[in-house]
Amino acid sequence: MNATRTTLHRMAATAVAGVALGLLLSVGPALAQQAKIKVGLMLPYTGTYAALGTAITNGFKLAIDENGGKLGGREIEYFTVDDESDPAKAPDNANKLIKRDQVDVLVGTVHSGVALAMSKVARDNNTLLVIPNAGADEITGPLCAANVFRTSFSNSQMGIAMGKVMAEQKKKTAVTLTWKYAAGDESVGGFKEAFEAGGGKVIKELSLPFPQVEFQSYLTEIAALKPDVVYVFFAGGGAVKFVKDYAAAGLNKTIPLVGAGFLTDGTLEAQGDAAQGLLTTLHYGDGLNNPKNIAFRAAYQKAFKSEPDVYAVQGYDAAQLLIVGANAVKGDMSKRAELVKAMEAAKLDSPRGSLALNKGHNPIHDIYLRKVEGKENKVIGVAVKNLTDPPRGCKL
Ligand code: BEZ
Repeated sequence: MNATRTTLHRMAATAVAGVALGLLLSVGPALAQQAKIKVGLMLPYTGTYAALGTAITNGFKLAIDENGGKLGGREIEYFTVDDESDPAKAPDNANKLIKRDQVDVLVGTVHSGVALAMSKVARDNNTLLVIPNAGADEITGPLCAANVFRTSFSNSQMGIAMGKVMAEQKKKTAVTLTWKYAAGDESVGGFKEAFEAGGGKVIKELSLPFPQVEFQSYLTEIAALKPDVVYVFFAGGGAVKFVKDYAAAGLNKTIPLVGAGFLTDGTLEAQGDAAQGLLTTLHYGDGLNNPKNIAFRAAYQKAFKSEPDVYAVQGYDAAQLLIVGANAVKGDMSKRAELVKAMEAAKLDSPRGSLALNKGHNPIHDIYLRKVEGKENKVIGVAVKNLTDPPRGCKL
């Protein structure tokens, strides 16, 4: 082949490649919309919060399945990471999903410390994040962001509700006990604020590191202090152990134990008699008699052969919220502004009742007063109607 023929060949090859590239660019957006939407689930599947992560995953997948297995008309591919409820591993875990797996949306997590780190990574990368549990007040307060949504609660909400109820019941003194991290601190903070505003006094605030469950010395101290009531924040495996230890120490006969509803949600089977009669506050109750809850519970039991709990509801609502956003952009997740606008305006028919979001993207919902009866967290009243957080410096 002489030099001229080689040049001609090269020119022809370049022209063909150019046409092919042009064609690819013109069909690119259409192809991108047919590709699967990548959903990154970053949740605990081991450790004290393992059951919570599983229930959230089940609830999320149930809502997606009820929507034909799709988001905005597109199939879904799941990427899953066990975050172990370990804040130190959270930046790496979130980055794996965002950078390596290139997920379109992150869903997670349970532990507030992990969620605080995760939401920073999401903000830094402008990745859409939906939080199906972790209640860190700051995330939808001063750290609020257009790309970060929560379908669960903020930690102070349950404490505020129970503080109000205990003050109304004319309890005068309280002792609080919790794991020492954002969730416990904020839950207890809400309780103290509302209880003292209603005329009560928190006489001692006790805490131990997460996820420790050596409660004996704290029970001894509570017995000596003899408060009118004890308010606690515990969840998952730790909640099971605490309720049993409290009863084993005989304290359930003398000092009423109350808590954020996580104390008895998804745990009653394991707590048995020790949990009977406990009062808690939460945005969900097993027996809520609304059509959505009845249908949700039946579908969940059928799919997973187990009873749903509040975590399953929150996972279900995370998917419901994403469905609203994805439908508004017909699956084109790159239309972020439109997607966010639709999610902000969403009014979800949640198993908990109606659910709307405030400016910081945190739920506005009723907080129920519940009493454990047998294997049920029975709703016995509404502690606070339509509870919404103050702006707390959110600039959205
Ligand atoms: C939290 O860390 O925010 C949390 C964990 C379990 C239940 C509720 C809140």
